[in-house]
Amino acid sequence: MPGSAADRLARLADGYLATQLLHVAVALGVPDALADGPRDAGDLARELGAVPGPLHRVLRGLAAEDVLAETGGGRFALTDTGRLLCAGLPGSLRDWVAMRGRLYYDAAAGLLAAVQDGGTPFEAVHGRPFFAHLSAEPARLATFQAAMADRSAREAGAVVAAYDTGGFASVVDVGGGRGTLLRAVRERVPGADVVLFDLPEVVAGSDLPAVGGDFFAEVPAGADAYLLSRVLHDWDDGDALRVLRTCRAAMRPDSVLLVVEAVLPERAADDAAAVRMDLHMLLLLGGCERTAAGYGRLFADAGLRLTRDVPTDAGVHVLEARPA
Ligand SMILES: C[S@@+](CC[C@H](N)C(=O)[O-])C[C@H]1O[C@@H](n2cnc3c(N)ncnc32)[C@H](O)[C@@H]1O
Repeated sequence: MPGSAADRLARLADGYLATQLLHVAVALGVPDALADGPRDAGDLARELGAVPGPLHRVLRGLAAEDVLAETGGGRFALTDTGRLLCAGLPGSLRDWVAMRGRLYYDAAAGLLAAVQDGGTPFEAVHGRPFFAHLSAEPARLATFQAAMADRSAREAGAVVAAYDTGGFASVVDVGGGRGTLLRAVRERVPGADVVLFDLPEVVAGSDLPAVGGDFFAEVPAGADAYLLSRVLHDWDDGDALRVLRTCRAAMRPDSVLLVVEAVLPERAADDAAAVRMDLHMLLLLGGCERTAAGYGRLFADAGLRLTRDVPTDAGVHVLEARPA
């Protein structure tokens, strides 16, 4: 019966199907192929190199999830949700979804073993740490960085709206990926001296001033502000502390560190997205989301003090820290 406890449980248990329906759609390019209007499975299958029967059933599955709409005559159209899967549109989540369908999905099957025996599911499945696995294959690394940029594009505007970065003349974005947040900061201070810092293979070819390196070793010194957006949650407390100490060593006494992260709520239901992100970290990296108090303790161990906790409209907080 729709809406019953049993119905809800059935939908939860079948969540694996929803992830794979989205994955198939993105991998084949179905959303882009529907961008100009409704089409049927036979027509799409010819263009996309698929088998019409199974493709029709996948399209119907996507219609059941309101990603597509059935428009009659066996044709399917994009809904507002489905349009978010098209490449290159503002707000697109295409690459963000692509990461979930393969790499994250494979790791998720190792969750029980991790809970019983410890360890990081991603490493058990792929035989090496997450970032090493990405760096080994340029296309995979590019999809991940595009996924991060998809997410960051939704967060960056909210971050600079909530926290005034206008006074910073020099800014280093540590583990900045494609520099989406750094660009938003630079827009606020057009003359600012900005540096994108990330692994050499990530910053290669960036149109931003960039330095490649290892944030466990050294980051560029002496900037007004350091950004760490969605970096600390990738690491357990020991490694997060190493990153913070590297940043602390690079900071002047009056520098500011801005940590952009979800903050774990008291009760899971108060921020389900933060709780899901915490599970992604468990699966992929052995990292974790933290409470504001947890960040405060880490900062103190790194010779920093938490000076502000600024919530944003995008679900992340800006945690401001200064040298203690
Ligand atoms: C979760 S992503 C966050 C990217 C970006 N800051 C954002 O908010 O979208 C973590 C970033 O840390 C970078 N990273 C991982 N290990 C690193 C290391 N040892 N040194 C420098 N950057 C590293 C990754 O390449 C990646 O861009």
